[in-house]
Amino acid sequence: MLLAGMPPSQGVSAKMDQTLNSRQQEKNRMTYDAVVRERKSTRGFLDKPVPRELVTEIIELACRAPSSFNNQCWNFSVVTGEPLNAIRTGNTEGILAGKPDSREFRTFTTVPDEHRGRQIEIAKQLFGAMGIERDDKEARQDWVLRGFRQFDAPVSIVVTYDKVLLGSDIAPFDCGAVTNALVNAAWSRGLGCVINSQGIMQSPVVREHANIPDDQVIMICVAMGWPDPDFPANAVYSHRKPLDETVRFVGFED
Ligand SMILES: Cc1cc2nc3c(=O)[nH]c(=O)nc-3n(C[C@H](O)[C@H](O)[C@H](O)COP(=O)(O)O)c2cc1C
Repeated sequence: MLLAGMPPSQGVSAKMDQTLNSRQQEKNRMTYDAVVRERKSTRGFLDKPVPRELVTEIIELACRAPSSFNNQCWNFSVVTGEPLNAIRTGNTEGILAGKPDSREFRTFTTVPDEHRGRQIEIAKQLFGAMGIERDDKEARQDWVLRGFRQFDAPVSIVVTYDKVLLGSDIAPFDCGAVTNALVNAAWSRGLGCVINSQGIMQSPVVREHANIPDDQVIMICVAMGWPDPDFPANAVYSHRKPLDETVRFVGFED
């Protein structure tokens, strides 16, 4: 088959190149275990654009996630450039001006003790990697502000769900499933992500600049880009609680 606009010989070899390239890519694919075990949140990104086609491929893969009644209530707004900068600025300004958290879901007011311990652990790991001292208020504030700016990632994917499902806990559950699939799919393609609740703290700002349709509820955003290998916090590998504190087996003989 000829490719449009190319002389016959070139068309054939370009097509063969394409086939070889995609075979090579298939061969280079990470195993599921490697993706899941090696993925970590990325909080420092290279100043390098992410191709739209790659984001499309990742979202298509992520959408294989299961959902209740196969409702697929999720939707994605992929934001970059000026609208993303406007979100970063508006989110940060609102928080600094003391505007209340206006995320479109319920959250806790006080973190329970057993969970607070794990929150402190990851914070210590991140601050340790970044060389931020416990009493260095300025550096700590700078870190928090980075989070509100979605860690200056080149792309933000705002995950929303259909408003007709507002009030059901199933929709956030389904969004969680697809978001996990999304960050893993991105990692398998060499992209890093951080699921970023801070980035939607001022959700009206996100709604305005990402032009989120009125029939959608904002669930979360995912900051995405090429990981900066020299950014210290990117080396942080979070721990998981032991399995014997996580799992109960019931009715097994052994
Ligand atoms: C719903 C949700 C919201 C999160 N929000 C933030 C956030 O606002 N800022 C941040 O730095 N990380 C955020 N994270 C990332 C978690 O801190 C991270 O997933 C956790 O510490 C485990 O680390 P890992 O992703 O490297 O395995 C969020 C993760 C989830 C699932």
